[in-house]
Amino acid sequence: MRLDKFFSEQKILSRTQCSKCVKNGEIAVNGVTVKKADVKIDESSDVITLNGERVFYKKYVYILVNKPIGVVSATEDAADKTVIDLLPTELKKYDLFPCGRLDKDTTGLVVLTNDGASAHAALSPKRHVEKEYSFKTADAYSDADVSAIERGITLKDGYTTKSCRIVRLNDNEGRIILTEGKYHEIKRLFGARGNKIIALRRIRFGDIVLGDIAEGAWRYMTEEEEKSFKSARQ
Ligand code: URA
Repeated sequence: MRLDKFFSEQKILSRTQCSKCVKNGEIAVNGVTVKKADVKIDESSDVITLNGERVFYKKYVYILVNKPIGVVSATEDAADKTVIDLLPTELKKYDLFPCGRLDKDTTGLVVLTNDGASAHAALSPKRHVEKEYSFKTADAYSDADVSAIERGITLKDGYTTKSCRIVRLNDNEGRIILTEGKYHEIKRLFGARGNKIIALRRIRFGDIVLGDIAEGAWRYMTEEEEKSFKSARQ
């Protein structure tokens, strides 16, 4: 890859800025000050420094946030705070987007990334990546409700949901594990049984668990989590 592309792709320096830095002797590759901005580098093994500080190659970024109520799963919104607004400004340059949507009144785990191919695979029902939610219903739900929802329900729009699993905690609370993510799916599943979801939190996405990320907080995925997230592509 060209040195100026290395910097511009990661939105650290534009090509013009890179040329200026090269002229000023501010960029080195493997300890040697470079003379030309179009010099070829190996981004995976060369040590690139800008004003003496190492610049690591990071094309894709993977972040986990715990979405609070009232925040929308979008990159921009005229009225509401978005999941991107939960991040510090230095992360805004990566053009991150939420991998799947949670309703405004749903809380919990949202993956933010700029890796479109992995996000697409992780959301595809064909890849069977599990998404687990804890829920609370307005009225008690029955074993018959559990069987019907687990088998799949034909919703008002004619769509029949894929089979899923429910773990009952008590008459009004439980966990539900889906491998697809249709619009308002859990609310519509319980709605079809004459009940109402009054609290919903996503607690797991594939192998990645919400754990102790506080509401409104974020963290980078661990290496293991990144690997697991990307594995949906295979
Ligand atoms: N199902 C819903 O109804 N809402 C969500 O936010 C996620 C799944």
